[in-house]
Amino acid sequence: MKIEFEGEALEARPGESLAATLTAQGIRSFRTTERGAERGVFCGMGVCQDCLVEVDGKPNQRACTVKVDRPMKVRREGSGRALAASGPAAGRPPITIEEIPVERPQVLVVGAGPGGLAAAYAARLAGAEVLVLDEGSAPGGQYFKQCSAADVASPDAQHQEGRRLIDDVLGSGVTVRSNVSVWGAFRPLEFAATKPGGSFLVQPEQAIIATGAFDRGWPVPGWTLPGVMTTGAAQTLWRTARRLPGKRVLIAGNGPLNLQLAVELVAGGADVVAVVEAAPAVGVRRVREIAAMLANAPRLVADGVRYISTCRRAGVRLINGSVLTSVTPHSGGLRATIAGREAATFDVDVVCVGYGFHPSNELLRALGCEHAFDPEQGRLVTVRDTRGKASVDGVWALGDCTTLGGARVGQAEGTLVGFAAARTIGCALSAEAVRLEAQAAADAARHRRFQRALWQMYRMDESLRVRPTGDTVMCRCEEVTYGQVEAALAEGATSPGEIKQETRLGMGLCQARYCGPALETFLAEQTGRSQDETSGFAPRVPVKPVSVDDLSSPAGA
Ligand code: FES
Repeated sequence: MKIEFEGEALEARPGESLAATLTAQGIRSFRTTERGAERGVFCGMGVCQDCLVEVDGKPNQRACTVKVDRPMKVRREGSGRALAASGPAAGRPPITIEEIPVERPQVLVVGAGPGGLAAAYAARLAGAEVLVLDEGSAPGGQYFKQCSAADVASPDAQHQEGRRLIDDVLGSGVTVRSNVSVWGAFRPLEFAATKPGGSFLVQPEQAIIATGAFDRGWPVPGWTLPGVMTTGAAQTLWRTARRLPGKRVLIAGNGPLNLQLAVELVAGGADVVAVVEAAPAVGVRRVREIAAMLANAPRLVADGVRYISTCRRAGVRLINGSVLTSVTPHSGGLRATIAGREAATFDVDVVCVGYGFHPSNELLRALGCEHAFDPEQGRLVTVRDTRGKASVDGVWALGDCTTLGGARVGQAEGTLVGFAAARTIGCALSAEAVRLEAQAAADAARHRRFQRALWQMYRMDESLRVRPTGDTVMCRCEEVTYGQVEAALAEGATSPGEIKQETRLGMGLCQARYCGPALETFLAEQTGRSQDETSGFAPRVPVKPVSVDDLSSPAGA
């Protein structure tokens, strides 16, 4: 299929994302900010808003979420503030709240990743009427994302496992709606959502929140340059569209996902120059963790061993105890610098950064569910009872949006929460459901033990954390630097709210998802105050950007 980008015809594969099409042509700069900085794909999952382009005259379209399903005319976006160009369709009268359609399922599941799908399946198996809403263009979430173009590659084991779960859910009578953004949550249980072309409300008896997590930012000089993207973004390009993020790639971060990405990109023909891991190399002193991992998930350990041996065979350098410290433009590509146990520079097309995740807990916090700051993880965790019930009546939560545990824990928790929510509305479990519930409880415990051992092994040396320079961008959306935040502190600002007022930090389209955690860490360092539940920005609805046009139209109109 042909599409047009800035007047030039490009070949696209039907079904892939616009970001995949453009990246495959070597196009990395998708828009220019107000200050003239270039931006491109960063998160690859609709969070950062850095990939905004104009599609067929409609501004502010996220290239990473737009599916190429027709010939389209695409232009670079001149500025992230082109919002004035959108609005209610001309001549249409404003709608009233009564005109917005309301759906009342017994169980609403927000998020169609492994955990959300497992919860939906379990609740349905128990006899509940279930509606799943998901922002992605197809169910599966980040872990079970499917190949968008079936003819470009045969699915691997992870794709196939996801396909089976998706098919089970769709075949069970669960209603799954993709491309739906749930942007508001209110008490008592009411959710506001938009799909392309309209808004609707959902008032379920029980709500299961399974919104997952997003990649943590790594604010170093140059982290906003086109070509610097998260490990998750690069993996999405490859796993959904078999498109490489670039030919010569450096991967830097913390955790095994970076090794998996290296293996996938090598298989696709990329020259992965190195995987730079922040944790020290695994030595004999980790024998206890290795034994725990082997006892609880031997297949995952085997995967890890395979990743390392494949990288070695392919000539990928594996560097431990070092971190990415800066990226600069260089000869049409990027020059990346690392420091720590080893200092080096690499000239590459693309730098992938994967330094862990942050929970997407905005809906839970908007509902007023209790959270606690976990100093070990450096993040808020959702307070839940042993069944996964949050502190607000009718709200259940599972997986990475509550506390980071990975896809396997999320899937097992999903089954447990789905059955528990169904029981609450009076459904009785069959003997088979009771067996599945017991199996899920055992799986959840086993995978939690695996995760604990894994992250002990991957614990990074905190002294490696980069002290950003004054001109390093903290807030990607509003282009606020560490220097500006420092100046605000020097002028007497003390809280995130005051810094926001002073600098506009956190007021952009990503709604502080990247700068919020960076500011919390920076404030703790600068002021000596400890991070706690109240140290960050409170979530504000809409928790996701929604177009005024969609907002002002009843769904289905
Ligand atoms: S790359 Fe598209 S929103 Fe982040």
